[in-house]
Amino acid sequence: MFGAAGQLGVELVRELQARRYEVRSWDRSQVDITDPAAVEQALAEFDAQVVFNSAAYNQVDVAEKEPQAAFLVNGLAVRNLAVACRQVDARLVHFSTDYVFDGAARHPYAEDDPTHPLGAYAVSKLAGELYAQAYLDNALVVRTSGVFGPGGLDTARGNFVELMLRLAGSSNPIRVVEDHVASPTYAPLLASRTIDLVEQQQSGVFHIGGGTPTSWFQFARLIFQTAGVEPMLLATNEREYRTPARRPRYSALSNGKMERIGLAPMPPLSEAMTLYFEERKRRVGKPVQNPRA
Ligand SMILES: NC(=O)c1ccc[n+]([C@@H]2O[C@H](COP(=O)([O-])OP(=O)(O)OC[C@H]3O[C@@H](n4cnc5c(N)ncnc54)[C@H](OP(=O)(O)O)[C@@H]3O)[C@@H](O)[C@H]2O)c1
Repeated sequence: MFGAAGQLGVELVRELQARRYEVRSWDRSQVDITDPAAVEQALAEFDAQVVFNSAAYNQVDVAEKEPQAAFLVNGLAVRNLAVACRQVDARLVHFSTDYVFDGAARHPYAEDDPTHPLGAYAVSKLAGELYAQAYLDNALVVRTSGVFGPGGLDTARGNFVELMLRLAGSSNPIRVVEDHVASPTYAPLLASRTIDLVEQQQSGVFHIGGGTPTSWFQFARLIFQTAGVEPMLLATNEREYRTPARRPRYSALSNGKMERIGLAPMPPLSEAMTLYFEERKRRVGKPVQNPRA
């Protein structure tokens, strides 16, 4: 497992161990996946049957300033992993993004919908998918969307939920776009469904998104409702709230393919959010402060 300290990485390790698999995991300080020799050496030390890559360069806006850095981690490093997996005859499980789509669709995206990435991050992620599949016939590529998990409590980048809660701690109004829709995905459920796919020996591209397509504004509202706080939340849109990277306006993912092969549907977002806050409370041990209460 590479990228083991990320939101998804910690959940994959936890779930694999819960299912009694022997797991070796490396975070960035132990193996930088952009270093082919380090990747090869890590795999040579452990007879891995399946290699999970949850490492990624995820700074969508910063990537417009440093597209090479994004491409190195999300594209070329996946080639390193694919080549190394080929050498030791291991299966590669790689994660990609809803941002490979341009957002022109009005239905949740299926795996065979045409891709059309809109920026440097998105292009780099699509390149990673292609590299995984170029060198391996049995690579599993899982596209997901708006990942949030308790692992975000321990990382500097955090996640959207923690960002909203931080903003709620100040008395300034919070503006969130209402014209961009995605499928926010709870990391522990993503990890568990991915391992289900691996246990079924699935390969190719699968979508695993959260159970409820939702705008970022509605998502923020649900976060505050679940947390029991009432900051001033205002809807904005992409014209008012400009970002360096273009993003798909609509990038909800259809889980139809996953469900057709017998995997359990993802629960509604409200349920995933409740699970997140239960885990958050267990970890942090204190309720969220409401500055307006
Ligand atoms: N987060 C989302 O909203 C989202 C949405 C769609 C798809 N995805 C995809 O889902 C997967 C999991 O994302 P996540 O939410 O778990 O991301 P995350 O929390 O940002 O974790 C990514 C991890 O990768 C590590 N990493 C970065 N560069 C590396 C390198 N060169 N070598 C080794 N490790 C490196 C990071 O380490 P540092 O912290 O030290 O940099 C971090 O621990 C990724 O493929 C991502 O593209 C995520």
